Amino acid sequence: MVRTKWIILILAAIAVVGCKKKETPAPAAEEQAAAVEQEKPAPAPAEPIQPLPESVEVDMEKVVLGRSLYHDTILSGDGTVSCATCHMLDHGGAEPRKTSTGIRGQKGPINSPTVLNSAYNFVQFWDGRAKDLQEQAAGPVANPIEMGAVWDEVVAKIKKEDEYAAAFAKLYEDGVTQDNITDAIAEYEKSLITPSRFDKYLRGDASALTDQEKRGYQTFKEVGCTACHAGVLAGGAMFQKLGLVKDYFADRGTPLTEADMGRFNVTKNPADKHFFKVPTLRNVELTPPYLHDGSRETLEETVAVMGRYQLGRELTQQQVNDIVAFLKSLTGELPPHAKMPEGS
Ligand code: HEC
Ligand code: HEC
Repeated sequence: MVRTKWIILILAAIAVVGCKKKETPAPAAEEQAAAVEQEKPAPAPAEPIQPLPESVEVDMEKVVLGRSLYHDTILSGDGTVSCATCHMLDHGGAEPRKTSTGIRGQKGPINSPTVLNSAYNFVQFWDGRAKDLQEQAAGPVANPIEMGAVWDEVVAKIKKEDEYAAAFAKLYEDGVTQDNITDAIAEYEKSLITPSRFDKYLRGDASALTDQEKRGYQTFKEVGCTACHAGVLAGGAMFQKLGLVKDYFADRGTPLTEADMGRFNVTKNPADKHFFKVPTLRNVELTPPYLHDGSRETLEETVAVMGRYQLGRELTQQQVNDIVAFLKSLTGELPPHAKMPEGS
């Protein structure tokens, strides 16, 4: 045994030396390579965040139907709550409350995320329990503390409304069904994209950002925020632990809730405790309070929390201010069709 080990070690050593020799190019070749390098223009460094498309292909008739459904309290059990109650277009597609309030004033367990640009999330919900927007839209309607309805009853009510019945008959062979209702709502949500000044910057317009915003983006990259907040949404592409390097929940000062368990609630794998979908940072300026528990009122506070618990560093006030300035450049504009027409 011992002898074979030695032979293997010696063979390995010879292999390493042999490889090293092969890898070292002759000086002449090295100089040649350098000369070639200088002729080529330096390639633009790949950006961790990609621009949103300026428009998306959608079926506009479905979008208009979905828009009505999204704003209609007919989807709730007692006719008081619509999707827009908790996902307000005037509040960045989220709500100005710590956690949601559903029918009969019931308090929900978690902060409502934005619906804007949500088609680009790799999964839906903080814990990723829905695979796409259509599957997601079925949830709140039947959730007893959100819209508290029974799907069969919702379908029956919508069938009785002439305008809805006609619109569904035109767009879907099987008319009003749960699947077609969630399909239309998902199509509407797919159309809610919000390109911003930052996208102009990414497309090459350096004047689209102020110096402070550019500095903030640079800091955002340098300190490591882009390890988690990258891609088209600056987020929405992976699960990560809240408190990756320091225990967030021990320091929060309020008892642990079931919602705090995050992805664990779906997988029951202890390694998934406190993992959440990394949220998008688009329009984050408009969606306080922050984090799944709605515990942070301001972006400044939230950015400092991220530095401390996700990266293990205390950001200076200057760094925080610059990053916040950059984050505000991600505030975009809703497409003109997003809101219900006046008077309807
Ligand atoms: C009572 C408030 C409430 C109502 C009504 C409501 N939502 Fe939500 N919505 C939430 C909350 C809270 C979450 C996060 C829940 C979670 O992740 O566990 C959420 C999550 C979502 C998400 C996932 C976004 C993401 O980033 O993961 C989408 C999309 C969404 N809702 C769309 C809708 C639609 C469409 C409707 C209407 C059919 C609707 N919501 C009705 C509160 C509400
Ligand atoms: C290791 C991954 C990771 C890193 C690094 C990271 N974040 Fe986060 N970020 C998350 C997760 C996960 C959440 C959601 C946590 C929760 O609410 O439970 C989040 C939430 C946020 C929020 C709140 C969004 C909202 O809608 O509530 C902001 C703002 C934010 N991050 C900014 C930053 C900034 C700025 C940096 C760099 C200083 C950073 N993040 C670094 C994973 C990360």
